[in-house]
Amino acid sequence: MTVIKPPPLPELPELSMDRMQSFSSPAFWGISNPRRFQELMEEAKTLVEPGYYLGDNLFTWGRNNSAFEDNAFVHALSSNALNPSDQAIAWRRYLLVSSACHAVHLAGDFVECGVYMGSGIKTVIDYFGKQHFHQRFWGYDTFDYHPTTNHGLPEQNSALFGKVQLRFADYPMVRLVKGFLPHAFAQGCPDKIAFLHIDLNNAEGEIASLEHLWERIVPGGLLILDDYEWAGIYRAQKRAEDLWFQARGYRVMPLPTGQGLVIKR
Ligand SMILES: C[S@@+](CC[C@H](N)C(=O)[O-])C[C@H]1O[C@@H](n2cnc3c(N)ncnc32)[C@H](O)[C@@H]1O
Repeated sequence: MTVIKPPPLPELPELSMDRMQSFSSPAFWGISNPRRFQELMEEAKTLVEPGYYLGDNLFTWGRNNSAFEDNAFVHALSSNALNPSDQAIAWRRYLLVSSACHAVHLAGDFVECGVYMGSGIKTVIDYFGKQHFHQRFWGYDTFDYHPTTNHGLPEQNSALFGKVQLRFADYPMVRLVKGFLPHAFAQGCPDKIAFLHIDLNNAEGEIASLEHLWERIVPGGLLILDDYEWAGIYRAQKRAEDLWFQARGYRVMPLPTGQGLVIKR
């Protein structure tokens, strides 16, 4: 029987009852007039109660903004953010970290399909303090090109894989696999998965990954679909995933961040 030695969860600081955290980022998508939008949002922020979150296509207020009350997370996020988008998606990242707090208690590996620069994986591991994180974390990506038409990413070129390997040079628990999914699973794939983050931006790759990995998720294991609740070019992912999960008696929980969550029974 596998013995689990979960890392201690970082302690949350005592909550002040009168100091609220607000968050604002200039990174948004799908805006026709960014300057005008920014002006309006600057004004809107003055009209709402504290505890607002503005960024990643969210504007909400009167929230605890738990992510920013958690010092270990604030440090993991800021030390791994390589661009404004990495900051803007703080809430999405906090859902990964909170899911990881559950999954570290399960006998299974961590997996991310769609690594890009590795900031997601690194934020999760650093949250616990890397020396405390013992589960293997697999990361799959082509690294040098984005298979989704019109979805190139600025850092994707022949040098990216080397750069990401370097980023994890001191992280023996991380196993990066370079190749196109689902074929790249043939290079190595865990039998048991506690945490699966799928972030491929395309329905075909995500369904092929689910076909390969879903049965390997242990009971209680978590699946986070990064784009599930995003519309536009991502809507095809929801359509394909709804059908796939319906056939298996599951329903994806759509999260306000744009992610989708499934708990394996
Ligand atoms: C949005 S990025 C991932 C971002 C990353 N999860 C993060 O949190 O920073 C999507 C990545 O998926 C990869 N990708 C998409 N389809 C793929 C496929 N079929 N096989 C391998 N990689 C794929 C792309 O190369 C790209 O790097």
